[in-house]
Amino acid sequence: MSKTHRRLLVTSALPYANGQIHIGHLVEYIQTDIWVRFQRMRGHEVHYVGADDTHGTPIMLRAEKEGLSPKELIAKVWKEHKRDFDNFLISFDNYYTTDSPENEQLSQSIYLKLRDAGLIEMRSIEQAYDPVKEMFLPDRFIKGECPKCGAKDQYGDSCEKCGATYSPTDLKNPFSVVSGATPIKKVSDHYFFKLSDPRCETFLREWTQIKTPLQPEARNKMKEWVGQPGDSKLGDWDISRDAPYFGFQIPDAPGKYFYVWLDAPIGYYASFLNYCQTKGLNFEEWVTPNTTTEQYHFIGKDILYFHTLFWPATLHFAGYRTPSNVFAHGFLTVDGEKMSKSRGTLISANSVIETGFNPEWFRYYFATKLNDSMEDLDLNLQDFVARVNSDLLGKYINIASRSAGFLVKRFDGMVSDEAMSNPLLTTITSSSEKIAQLYESREYAKALRLIMELADQVNAFVDENKPWEIAKDSQREAELQKVCSVTLEAFRLLTLYLKPVLPAVAAGVEDFLSIPPMGWNDVKTTLSSTNPIKPYKHLMTRVEAPQIEALLAANL
Ligand code: 2FM
Ligand code: ZN
Repeated sequence: MSKTHRRLLVTSALPYANGQIHIGHLVEYIQTDIWVRFQRMRGHEVHYVGADDTHGTPIMLRAEKEGLSPKELIAKVWKEHKRDFDNFLISFDNYYTTDSPENEQLSQSIYLKLRDAGLIEMRSIEQAYDPVKEMFLPDRFIKGECPKCGAKDQYGDSCEKCGATYSPTDLKNPFSVVSGATPIKKVSDHYFFKLSDPRCETFLREWTQIKTPLQPEARNKMKEWVGQPGDSKLGDWDISRDAPYFGFQIPDAPGKYFYVWLDAPIGYYASFLNYCQTKGLNFEEWVTPNTTTEQYHFIGKDILYFHTLFWPATLHFAGYRTPSNVFAHGFLTVDGEKMSKSRGTLISANSVIETGFNPEWFRYYFATKLNDSMEDLDLNLQDFVARVNSDLLGKYINIASRSAGFLVKRFDGMVSDEAMSNPLLTTITSSSEKIAQLYESREYAKALRLIMELADQVNAFVDENKPWEIAKDSQREAELQKVCSVTLEAFRLLTLYLKPVLPAVAAGVEDFLSIPPMGWNDVKTTLSSTNPIKPYKHLMTRVEAPQIEALLAANL
């Protein structure tokens, strides 16, 4: 256990319940999971929760299209998401749904507290309405001709043909994507969270600029919004939607529902509350303003505003603690380009498994690309094959096979205790805090570079000592045992360092070395002659180039 015992609540963004998990999503879940597993190895108390984000118009319409009720659709998608997360070894402690009684109760009570604080206001606004379907239309359900170039079938915010940006009211010959009808204007009462209230401005200015160690890019972006006193760009936030809508009813407002983005982040707490109830944990202790527990949200950079403005303000003014930090990552590109359905690069998590890929190849590859910034990261498919085969297998996995065979065949699986003081092992263990610090600060690419440099040193040790030569000379038995023991202990240490990234491989290694699950403190233990190892079993196979083609084809 590291010096102080920490208590952490960690989340990843909640995926919408109307689509498949793809590799773009996986970047985030893998990033979070590595951090969570690392913190668990450090001996901290960590609770990692998630849920499907189930409400809103797109999910309601999608269900209708599939001939399902929204509840049937979200139940079906939940199972698919859960399967994908399990396959990629994402170690949620609770994976729930935002369409839960806990979330309904929390959302309504939070809303009432905001209302009691004088931060909710009702206003009439005019909006696009589909007179045939009899529903208000979110912008993305309106299409028409580009006001600039006349291109047909363009969305209400920008033209894919000429790149012009505009508002839906500028579209020529607009039509509803739902029914084809021409939208009309209709007035309706909406509920707003008054973010422009001076109390909110003051709070958010302090929370984003002083109190929270946000990433510098995030802090700067927020600075533009919270501005200087008297010069904030914070607008009030429309948190209501009219029926028909799939979501939670707003108290005392018949026919009005919470906008999905109001109840979605509250879904983090609802999932945690549900988990606390099953585990006998004290939920209140975690969410009260003066708590010593920590709360972290991993998200994509596109939903920063929701997590660094709306969510902290919602929590604060409803009497809860606020997040300790929000960690945003960039988008994934494939071979340098935006993921695309037509190129087969919008790769679903399930297709990765179905085409026989090892999910830990992806965990490893993404980890070699991840850092603490919001920069985009690229999955280069050729580089993927090279990194997996030459680094992961060539440099790391092969170390085990280079040493274990001799120990099992010639020494009954027993290591030499004397070998454990070899300077190579000291070199490896002395990097442990540096590597820990890199995991802690989400600098996984740097951590893996350092670990692979250590693997290079281990391979150099094997190449210099040539156990296969020593093995030919019956006078040099003790030397052979020592060289192989050093190598295997080095392999154990490298496995410990890689365990947050490669949990299944690490479990296989722990089994073959006959050792209990390793925590970070096991840098200080060693293999021992009293605990013989088992015969080496294959830990991982190579990726073959044709598999990449099969993967792309499966996504066309
Ligand atoms: O952008 C999205 O995919 C949302 N479903 C994320 C929600 S995260 C949280 F706030 F619930
Ligand atoms: Zn245009």
